[in-house]
Amino acid sequence: MNRNHVCALALLTMACGAPPPTVDKKIEPPKPTLTKRAFGSVDGQTATLYTLTNSRGMTAAVTDYGATLVSIRAANKAGQFEDVVLGFDNIEGFVKAVGPYFGSIVGRYGNRIAKGRFTLNGVTHKLATNNGANHLHGGLKGFDKMLWKASESESPDGPAVTFEYVSKDGEEGYPGTLTSRVTYTLTPMNALRIQYEMSSDKDTIANLTNHAYFNLSGDPARGVQDHEFEIRADRYTPVDAGLIPTGELASVEGTPFDFRKPERLGPRMNAQHPQIKIGNGIDHNFVLNSEAGTLRPVVIVREPRSGRVMEVSTTEPGVQFYTGNFLDGTIKGRGGAAYQQRAAFCLETQRFPDSPNQAKFPSAVVKAGEKRTSETAFKFWAE
Ligand code: BGC
Repeated sequence: MNRNHVCALALLTMACGAPPPTVDKKIEPPKPTLTKRAFGSVDGQTATLYTLTNSRGMTAAVTDYGATLVSIRAANKAGQFEDVVLGFDNIEGFVKAVGPYFGSIVGRYGNRIAKGRFTLNGVTHKLATNNGANHLHGGLKGFDKMLWKASESESPDGPAVTFEYVSKDGEEGYPGTLTSRVTYTLTPMNALRIQYEMSSDKDTIANLTNHAYFNLSGDPARGVQDHEFEIRADRYTPVDAGLIPTGELASVEGTPFDFRKPERLGPRMNAQHPQIKIGNGIDHNFVLNSEAGTLRPVVIVREPRSGRVMEVSTTEPGVQFYTGNFLDGTIKGRGGAAYQQRAAFCLETQRFPDSPNQAKFPSAVVKAGEKRTSETAFKFWAE
């Protein structure tokens, strides 16, 4: 633009009566917010959708039905926000989808218990069996299909919602009345933090986890093969044909389960390996290296196209890495998208599968009158 152009532009602006340019207007970052709206009804009761937004514009939406994580909108490298978890536009989708546990809190025992049987304090308990001969994710009606009681809060760490569910003594065969509280907080550092608290009036077992399905590309139709995984685990727990751990803590060395350096998922979940054959892909518990009990980063996932990165931190000893092997395109999710096999992956931080029947696995017992807590965080950035 030459000098004449600049003058012409100035004259034009004055002629149109435009206000003089504002000087020094400070742009405030948006305030974190927590909004809620009706999300449909379940058994005649209204489910609510809570949307947490942080000062960077990232959002996470959760509902009291199943204490479910419905959506996470995180920015890609161009600053575009897209959903990185599978879900539905309304509650009906979550109610109808029996089996995949999209975004739910699974419990009382997330993962499998062999033959739905375990012995505690000399008494053998018989649980509902809903996965062949085994018990999976809490039984016929697990925590994912319950309406939890919600309370909202604002903390310096960000907007938060706590869900509480009281599971009665004998529910699905479990001993003791177990009170579970799950708090979702969206922090200014783009971490969705999930804090768990469990207490019981009798000794019991519990293994609550979140069952979100992630696809960091923002487009589930792309599948997950190009995601790169780094998992800080030297060992994993091989399984039998029913996906019950054999009890061995096997080295990942020389197997498709070695993600100690970042590896593309595609070749790993399609590898020729007897364990991959059993799982129909990866569906295995990884034994996390560093000591459980403190929050430490355990998994880093990168999706090269979008540039999104997700870091998973947990206080738990294990993580179930599941590559969406049983999705088959029959479920139509958000915006009508058909969720095909391996459209997304889950990272379920946990005690090990079948811990109650494996003396060498970390205990899943909740002692009467004692509080057990754990924490997992999913943090996002783009590069
Ligand atoms: C299990 C899979 C199961 C999936 C959905 C995962 O936690 O490991 O075997 O198919 O949940 O139920």
